[in-house]
Amino acid sequence: MSKSLAVVNCSQVVTLSGARRPRTGGDLRQLAITEDGALFVSGDRIEAVGRRKQIESLITPECEVIDAGRRVVMPGFVDAHTHPVFAGTRANEFEQRTAGATYRELAARGGGIRTTVRATRNASLSELVKIGKRYGEWFLRGGTTTVEAKSGYGLTIEDEIKILRAIKRLDEETPLNYVPTFLGAHDIPFEYKTRRHMYVNLVINEMLPRVAEERLAEYCDVFCENEVFTTDETWQILSAARCHGLGLRIHADQLSLSGGAKLAAELNAATADHLEHTDTEGIEALKAAKVQPVLLPGAVYALGSSRYPPAREMINAGLAVVLATDFNPGSSPTPSMTTILSLACTQMKMTPAETITASTINAAYSVGRGDEIGSLEKGKRADFVIHDCEDYRELPYFFGVEHAWRVFTSGRLAFARSGQ
Ligand code: NIG
Ligand code: FE
Repeated sequence: MSKSLAVVNCSQVVTLSGARRPRTGGDLRQLAITEDGALFVSGDRIEAVGRRKQIESLITPECEVIDAGRRVVMPGFVDAHTHPVFAGTRANEFEQRTAGATYRELAARGGGIRTTVRATRNASLSELVKIGKRYGEWFLRGGTTTVEAKSGYGLTIEDEIKILRAIKRLDEETPLNYVPTFLGAHDIPFEYKTRRHMYVNLVINEMLPRVAEERLAEYCDVFCENEVFTTDETWQILSAARCHGLGLRIHADQLSLSGGAKLAAELNAATADHLEHTDTEGIEALKAAKVQPVLLPGAVYALGSSRYPPAREMINAGLAVVLATDFNPGSSPTPSMTTILSLACTQMKMTPAETITASTINAAYSVGRGDEIGSLEKGKRADFVIHDCEDYRELPYFFGVEHAWRVFTSGRLAFARSGQ
């Protein structure tokens, strides 16, 4: 018989139970909270969620019982946009930006993504796994139990495969769950600077078939931006990716209104990410094609910008908004979902409840796992967090604090804060 676990004495069990679809409009605020609730887990699955009395009746002598001490229990965060496998840091460029250099200027000088590409090419698979494990612990510590993880700092066949293999090993060897995305079109590598079409061909004709053959990715992403990949090139790459059975994501309209959102709609992509410069037309296109917007306020904040994506307009238009960290060494060096929730509340005027939905159930749907994770419902995988607060609104309210007290993935303890 599989091991069972009961979590009792919770101030709130934030279940997010409800319709089996990404949440839009007023549904973003419906968290389906059970006050004074409890949770029962059997093996790696959620068996029951309910009032304390009801769950207590299920407890047998073999069952492990955890007293939550009047804390909040929630699904683990699903971070639907990260770049977590890279070598080195860009603390140096961070300092240069404090002196006035811009992200684009640094990139134009051969810095930015290319700095990280140089370091990552020089790292071995096992070095990348070691580095990735350190960041993986950071995610868990913040209450994140699944991350969508992009390659994109290799930009040669072998180096992109190396990163995707590192992601696979991280998924297998650690309690954090990874959803792999191939981002060979993250930048034009230096050696192809004067023959960019050759690089696009390499991605389409050699990288994608290899990635698909080795089943190393579920999604393909492209950085669609003036000076990076044009909408034409993005269309070519993502159309090829679709033929290989991959889902589609786009870095869209981050630094300028470059047409990424509209293209995401045209291609029926799963997500369009960033969207800082997307206009009403782009929002309407996303709505018509049911593309989920993945908003990344950490990248706006860390680049020192104040141009946050128009979250309220998107919610009013009926989009199933997602929030994610964009964890990466350049534009968003944070793995902290609670920081993102705080930014979304203060800078984008999302309500605390909306931010919770956007970072759990909606995020789960955006990575193709809406039936498996993102809410606390019978039959779902037991990925949940006990947060050290009495009310879920404290998560974005007390910012700069990681609230996670115990983190479970597949019903097993993945992180415990030391002390009380
Ligand atoms: O999502 N926009 C492109 N990619 C990343 C930045 C990566 C980097 O600077 O290393 C982003 O912001
Ligand atoms: Fe990104």
